[in-house]
Amino acid sequence: MKLLILHGPNLNLLGTREPEIYGSMTLEDINQKLIELGKELGAEVKCLQSNHEGALIDALHDARMWANGVVFNPGGYTHTSVALRDAIAAIGIPVIEVHLSNVYAREDFRHTSLISAVCKGKVLGLGWRSYTLGLRALVETLEDAGSNRKQS
Ligand code: DQA
Repeated sequence: MKLLILHGPNLNLLGTREPEIYGSMTLEDINQKLIELGKELGAEVKCLQSNHEGALIDALHDARMWANGVVFNPGGYTHTSVALRDAIAAIGIPVIEVHLSNVYAREDFRHTSLISAVCKGKVLGLGWRSYTLGLRALVETLEDAGSNRKQS
């Protein structure tokens, strides 16, 4: 099983960026955790971050050629990007939306996600654990889909 962990804008600054909201772990720390967890769960995990909407769209398109699923934190683009939503809808592999912070406890503009409706599910508000739980959920979802296919 091959999985993409995709991080959007400003998440490269984790560790120093508003640590009271996003925690003190760096993106590298989180990626290492996810790679290790992937190994435990039998999944090969590739991590990618971009501050650019088009690069995130390209990464999603590319993922459909090699990945079984995606864990995606689109950062601020969550609340604005029709193009990212369309990319997720287009690729036909499950995407789990994750956020470090509880966006519903923050500013009103963060309460809207343009991508949730086209994602398999969503985990938020649990800091770095949003990613590990998102990864576990994705692996289990894909395993279920695999065993259902075998039965039929
Ligand atoms: C975020 C929440 C977004 O509202 C914000 O723009 C981010 C990070 C989160 O992980 O909590 O950049 O996606």
